[in-house]
Amino acid sequence: MIPTGLLAASSTTQRFVVRADAEIGVVRPEFHGHFAEHLGSCVYGGLWVGKRSPIPNIEGYRKQAVEYLRELGVPVLRWPGGCYADDYHWRDGIGPVEQRPKRVNIHWGGYIEDGSFGTHEFIGLCRLLGADPYVAGNVGSGSPLELRDWIEYCNMPSGSTLAEERIKNGATEPFRVRYWGVGNENWGCGGWMRPEVYANLYRQFSVYIREYGGTAPYLVASGPNGNDHKWTRGFMDTLDGGVPGGLSMHYYEGGPDRATEFSADHLGQQLSIFKRVEEAITEQRAILDGYRDGHKVGLILDEWGVWDKIPEEDEKRYGKLWMQSTMRSAVAAGLGLNIFNRLADKLFMCNIAQIVNVLQSLLLTDGPEGKSCIRTTTYHAFVLFKPHRSKTAVRVEPQDSSPVGVSVSASKGENELIITFVNPRHDADVEIDCTIHGSTAREAKALILDDPDWNACNTFENPNRVVLRSHAVAVEGSRLRMDLPRLSVATVTLKTA
Ligand code: AHR
Repeated sequence: MIPTGLLAASSTTQRFVVRADAEIGVVRPEFHGHFAEHLGSCVYGGLWVGKRSPIPNIEGYRKQAVEYLRELGVPVLRWPGGCYADDYHWRDGIGPVEQRPKRVNIHWGGYIEDGSFGTHEFIGLCRLLGADPYVAGNVGSGSPLELRDWIEYCNMPSGSTLAEERIKNGATEPFRVRYWGVGNENWGCGGWMRPEVYANLYRQFSVYIREYGGTAPYLVASGPNGNDHKWTRGFMDTLDGGVPGGLSMHYYEGGPDRATEFSADHLGQQLSIFKRVEEAITEQRAILDGYRDGHKVGLILDEWGVWDKIPEEDEKRYGKLWMQSTMRSAVAAGLGLNIFNRLADKLFMCNIAQIVNVLQSLLLTDGPEGKSCIRTTTYHAFVLFKPHRSKTAVRVEPQDSSPVGVSVSASKGENELIITFVNPRHDADVEIDCTIHGSTAREAKALILDDPDWNACNTFENPNRVVLRSHAVAVEGSRLRMDLPRLSVATVTLKTA
């Protein structure tokens, strides 16, 4: 039965059919992956505060951040960059901390890093979070030898000089790192290369990247900027065989306003970019599939998320690229994560940029020295997608061409159907009317993140301004009805027969 008050305020109805009988593919937990770069206060001061910090920490890792991230679950974590990766020399981050060299971070403000967060600290963080480590190697200013040695240092169980060095540095067990990026954005900050030049380097590097101790490396090649066909074709043509495990595509959704000062027009413009992201994934997948063995290459959306105008005063106070996340950002996250479900058969991994304090982050701290650590609206949007992990995405068919443009995705597990709706409009509430094919619903519950103010956000003074709340949903047999307010992300969990 429809609960009292439900559907009362709706102005438009959008109808969908969820085809529980039409499977797309598995929603890999890796679609909810993350990225931590040595940039601003993401690593230093965000995730890592050091063992002697007055900020509560677990062996140097910011305690509150670890707790929030553990609660969400981090399937995979990419590190150390970004642009930083192609100027990072792994030897600078191992051994006694006081002996580690101090290096200038040339990409992100020229500040000096003391190397105290290196390979061992990264692996320690991954283990705390239960995340699969993904290390981006240095092609731009590095060599095949350097990357080859890093992999042996990490993965060789014992016996070789490099393995024994790791053991001497405190890690008896190998790190078993599977995912290795062969450079990052080598069309830009990673060496400003042409695709043919990069492909030749990829060929050379890949010869020296080997399996140690039973950990077969999964190599990720630097892929296109957005939907750049020329890069992907240039790379694949020159490669001429020997395909990588994955291809890393980066697609940011830029915005001309400060995060908390978006105009209605710019809100619409930014959210409309997601249509192009969807096209990009489909087209890049098709390009890869056109090559011999191209179907074996996993398409990775390695960096994605909104990138708004960043106020200089915020950067000075909190760190480079420190950016607030608003209700608009949460809607953007919902649009992206819905696309990944719908294109589950085309993707291998997706990593939002970045995990703490940088761009569309999940957590914010009040600067590197600040004790506060809060969950952003984007964090809460990710929580709404957690039930989809490892389930099988199924098709959803819109039944009318309503101008509202609600985004939907669904996945099914054993006796369960999960549906996520995103209303990107700031000026239209919607009534959802959904019919389920191939399954009968017994009961439903819904959680929603919504706020009619697209600039609303969680702050250090008011950390719970935008949080999840339960939401009324009506289900009768194969029909589901629910109000979907303007600017909202809602997940319905249906128990099915
Ligand atoms: O995420 C910030 C930067 O954006 C990364 O370092 C780079 O890969 C991209 O251009």
